[in-house]
Amino acid sequence: MTEAELYTLYKGVYLPALVHSPQSLSYFEKFTFRPEDVVIVSYPKSGTTWMQEIVPLILSGGDPASVESLYNWDRVPWLEEQRASQLNLEERPSPRMLTSHFQYKMMPPSFYQVKPKVIYVIRNPKDVFTSAFHYYETTSFMVNPGPRSKFLQKFLDGNVAFSSWFDHVKGWLNVKGKEQILYVTYEELTQDLKDAVSRIAQFLGKPLDTKVIDNIADKCLFQNMKQNKMSNYSAVPQAIMDQTKSGFFRKGTVGDWKNLLTVAEAEYFDKVYKDQMKDVQHKFVWD
Ligand code: A3P
Repeated sequence: MTEAELYTLYKGVYLPALVHSPQSLSYFEKFTFRPEDVVIVSYPKSGTTWMQEIVPLILSGGDPASVESLYNWDRVPWLEEQRASQLNLEERPSPRMLTSHFQYKMMPPSFYQVKPKVIYVIRNPKDVFTSAFHYYETTSFMVNPGPRSKFLQKFLDGNVAFSSWFDHVKGWLNVKGKEQILYVTYEELTQDLKDAVSRIAQFLGKPLDTKVIDNIADKCLFQNMKQNKMSNYSAVPQAIMDQTKSGFFRKGTVGDWKNLLTVAEAEYFDKVYKDQMKDVQHKFVWD
């Protein structure tokens, strides 16, 4: 099926229509944030699910009950998706944990007034592209990626679900003012998970002792999360997400783009990246 059939255009951004109904977007627009809320924000395939495991474990002081009994989409729901409006989020005690794949400019009015805490997860876009290329193949609500070179052009042009990676990242990096945003890269999580957990815990005002941090980091290792039925999407029917084609927990590595892109494609990617990111001061580990 085509973009026109599977996606809905909201504020100029493509969204999978299956979970982004007019009602869910209306719920999102009217949502009232609290200053204590913790919002995980990311462009898809950047490590969202990973953070949806880390944050609840930190806030519970290492108690695994919620990550072992609640699906990630109920534990740290996507605010813009259909499911959020059914969860009685208004009744949840603070600090509530929420997720969004939206660009900064798409957030609801209350977000800018209240300025809740945000953890923005970023990943090397070449690995995001690689992860997305496999993921799009498995899901019925994403447009089939087609040939790699064609999907590459679509990704770089922002003609994919959630539109441009560049717009997403630049928008969130450019936030001015007093917002409380912690930027965390997928690469940092991979390099030193314990250190990242410790930093996130500090940011959330929940410093933890070393033993608890070690336990959280262990629980959030790729091979352990892959076994967690509450996080590995095995509960999603095969007709919607066919993990026999590619598991949601696919590789979980840094630099897998090298196994997918040709040298010419990688050079082209770099050229577009350099041009798109020329005004960004922030330097990433992959730059
Ligand atoms: P790959 O497809 O490269 O393996 P998101 O949750 O934002 O959709 O991101 C999915 C990507 O994060 C997938 O990347 C997935 O394997 C990876 N991922 C999820 N949990 C992880 C973990 N604990 N460690 C490493 N990678 C993880």
